[in-house]
Amino acid sequence: MTALLAELAGETNKSALLDLGCGTGSFLAQAAASGFSRTCGIDASPKMVETAQNTAPEAELQVGNFAHLPWPAASFDNVTTMEAIYYCPEPLAALKEVARVLKTGGRFDLVIDYYQDSSGTSSWPEGLGFEITSLSATQWVDLLAQAGLEKISNRRIIRPQQEADPASWKPSVWFPTEDSYLAYLEDGALWLTGYLPSSVPNQ
Ligand SMILES: C[S@@+](CC[C@H](N)C(=O)[O-])C[C@H]1O[C@@H](n2cnc3c(N)ncnc32)[C@H](O)[C@@H]1O
Repeated sequence: MTALLAELAGETNKSALLDLGCGTGSFLAQAAASGFSRTCGIDASPKMVETAQNTAPEAELQVGNFAHLPWPAASFDNVTTMEAIYYCPEPLAALKEVARVLKTGGRFDLVIDYYQDSSGTSSWPEGLGFEITSLSATQWVDLLAQAGLEKISNRRIIRPQQEADPASWKPSVWFPTEDSYLAYLEDGALWLTGYLPSSVPNQ
C-alpha cells in the first residue's frame, strides 16, 4: 500500500479510484487523503464493507464480487487491488471487468504476496482450508493482456529491512519452516501495472 500510494501521489489526474477487495478500507482512506476526489470500493464481505465505511466515510462502497462490478463502463481513472484477486476463481472475468470500468488511458495496479513464483507462500491454501488461484508472474501478465490492458509492467516489492525481521519467525500454517519465511521475504510481493489503451487499435 505504501509503495503504491507513493507512486500514485505523482499522478496528475487524481479523480476516480476503485479498490477491489477493499477489506478494512485503509487504502481507500489514504487514497482520499492523498487527493482522489472519488473513492469507491467493493468487497465480498458485508462485515468488511461496514468496517471500511467507518475507516473511509467518504468512500462509495458495495458488497459484491469483483467478477461482476456494479459500475458503468469507463467510470474510473485508477483501479487497484491488493492481496485479494487470488481469492477469485475467475481472475480473467475480474480483469475484463477492470478493463470495462477503466476510462481510456486509465491505470490498473495489482499487488499480491501469493503467486506461483513465491515458493515461501505455497502452503497458504492449506492454511486457509480452500483452493486459491495460483498463477506465475508471467501468467498474470498474460491475463492482464488478454483482458485488454497494455504497457504491462511486472515488479516486486521487497519489504523494508526493519519490518522483515527473520528473528520474529515462529512456525505457523502460513510459514511452517524458517526457510519458507525467508523465501517469502526474498521473493517479495508481485506488483503488476497495466493501462487501458487510449484508443482501440484497428481490427
Ligand atoms: C486479504 S484481504 C485484503 C484486504 C485489503 N485489500 C488489504 O490489502 O488490506 C482480501 C479481501 O478480499 C475480499 N474478497 C475475497 N474474494 C472476493 C471477491 N470474489 N470479490 C470481492 N471481494 C473479495 C475479502 O472479503 C477480503 O476483504
